[in-house]
Amino acid sequence: MYKRHRKLRTSAVMRNLVKDVYVSKEDLIYPIFVEEGENIKNEIESMPGIFRYSLDRIDEELDALVELGINSILLFGIPKHKDECATESYKEDGVIQNAIRYIKKNYPNFLIIGDVCCCEYTSHGHCGILDENGYVKNDETLEVLGKIALSYAKAGVDVIAPSDMMDGRIQKISQVLEKNGFHNVALMSYAVKYSSAFYGPFRDAADSAPKFGNRKTYQMDFRYSKDAIDEVREDLKQGADFIIVKPALSYLDVMQKVSNNFNVPVIAYSVSGEYSMTKAAALKGWIDEKAIVMEQMYAFKRAGANAIITYYAKDVAKYLNESD
Ligand code: PBG
Repeated sequence: MYKRHRKLRTSAVMRNLVKDVYVSKEDLIYPIFVEEGENIKNEIESMPGIFRYSLDRIDEELDALVELGINSILLFGIPKHKDECATESYKEDGVIQNAIRYIKKNYPNFLIIGDVCCCEYTSHGHCGILDENGYVKNDETLEVLGKIALSYAKAGVDVIAPSDMMDGRIQKISQVLEKNGFHNVALMSYAVKYSSAFYGPFRDAADSAPKFGNRKTYQMDFRYSKDAIDEVREDLKQGADFIIVKPALSYLDVMQKVSNNFNVPVIAYSVSGEYSMTKAAALKGWIDEKAIVMEQMYAFKRAGANAIITYYAKDVAKYLNESD
């Protein structure tokens, strides 16, 4: 006799009864690009449906999220001026610091996550301070990251998410926060972040493409499978509260491994290129967008993700509302 697996698939009620993976609005984190300036709402060419907003028009986006029941946002900043050392990134009245204060005051229920990195603020587009050969200097960059994190904390951020991939940044940021009394600001580390072509559209969105070279000396090499666990262990030791795995869709194996090995919330970051690929095929009419997007969300949750950063968050919330 063989097992009849199909018995548990006979009806919708049966399938719903046995399912053990869930996606809810509470799992969603929506990335928002805030650009310094006035009256800006610009669609990102390679990410149809995703916009850069100036702070004076951000209400439109935030109101839509409130309406849909999305409570967590991840902020990226695009400053007017960039320089070699990313000095705009830690100004008290920088684009993100202003955004954090504004959102906290006017929309106090959002959980605000601030992405900490230099690449949107450096003239060369790399994620840190360069030496004379164009190599990103680790320890000098840590000082800048510490300043960015502190400026976000002072503005009222809930969670800090460093995405630079310098060694020791979690320790540095934890120390700075502790020393300054910010004991409740959580650290969501991009601990497992691969050097990936899937970030291409984001770099258009955030104007952050490196002007020369690539990010391979600091982001992880996807051909080497052994350092993911070490990166996570190290970041947890240094004080990380959450672990991000990024990109998501092509790295579900890594997500599963991290989730199986550590008792810590795992966050899937479904990156810009994943959004653009799906969106482009959907606009062509080649795929069923809703079905494909939801299948991806379930895949992240099945691989162990607690939450999902996705440019599709608003659509997912709509889809979930439809089936309520
Ligand atoms: C900043 C940063 C990047 C992303 C998130 N934070 C770009 C990069 O590392 O080049 C990518 C996000 C996406 O593609 O959606 N370092």
